[in-house]
Amino acid sequence: MATVLDSVRALFAPASTFTITAETPADVVARETLLDRAMGADRRLKSSEKIRQNRVPAEGLALVARDEDGHVIGTVRLWNIEAGISPEGNAIDALLLGPLAVCSSHEGKGIGAALMRAAIGQAHDRGHGAVLLVGDAAYYERFGFFGGKTQHLVMPGPCDRARFLALELKAGWLEGAAGMIVASGRKLA
Ligand SMILES: CC(C)(COP(=O)(O)OP(=O)(O)OC[C@H]1O[C@@H](n2cnc3c(N)ncnc32)[C@H](O)[C@@H]1OP(=O)(O)O)[C@@H](O)C(=O)NCCC(=O)NCCS
Repeated sequence: MATVLDSVRALFAPASTFTITAETPADVVARETLLDRAMGADRRLKSSEKIRQNRVPAEGLALVARDEDGHVIGTVRLWNIEAGISPEGNAIDALLLGPLAVCSSHEGKGIGAALMRAAIGQAHDRGHGAVLLVGDAAYYERFGFFGGKTQHLVMPGPCDRARFLALELKAGWLEGAAGMIVASGRKLA
């Protein structure tokens, strides 16, 4: 009976409304609080954090999800990197995505997917060639992220290879890419 009532309530519940916008300086405290809650304080020990430390995100690629009242309920940022070198010996410009997080009380409403699609769309529109990330393949494969293109790349620290994924925004961008991921974004003032 309770299950039936829950289903009926769900049918009549107002649809979740949220918007994806650019992050502003006023969002920083809310974003950091959300990340601490979603990922724990040791999130700062991750190898990806070495890439992000003392850098600003890639231009136009820090996004937040907001609820109807404008509160931050989701966050994603992308960072400029060099994804190793090409077979010709040229550094390969790319982006590192993360962290992605959604406030636990809003999970399962498609906010994570909306943030991912907005981030990928913006990165594509800005002419970037590829996006890399470290995360659960079971979640990120639906957005086109797979491990094959990162097999000769290494993160600057411990990293589970099965979680080191990439999406090419331009076909063949990571072909033959090999070497260490290096931060290349603008430094914090
Ligand atoms: C992962 C996260 C961003 C997803 O946000 P969300 O708004 O709930 O995602 P969506 O509503 O777009 O998608 C929900 C779906 O993703 C699935 N999913 C969520 N996390 C997953 C994971 N780690 N692996 C596989 N599937 C996952 C859910 O089971 C759900 O599946 P369904 O659509 O079949 O029911 C959110 O759960 C979160 O912030 N988690 C804590 C931080 C984190 O782990 N960040 C990612 C780092 S790898």
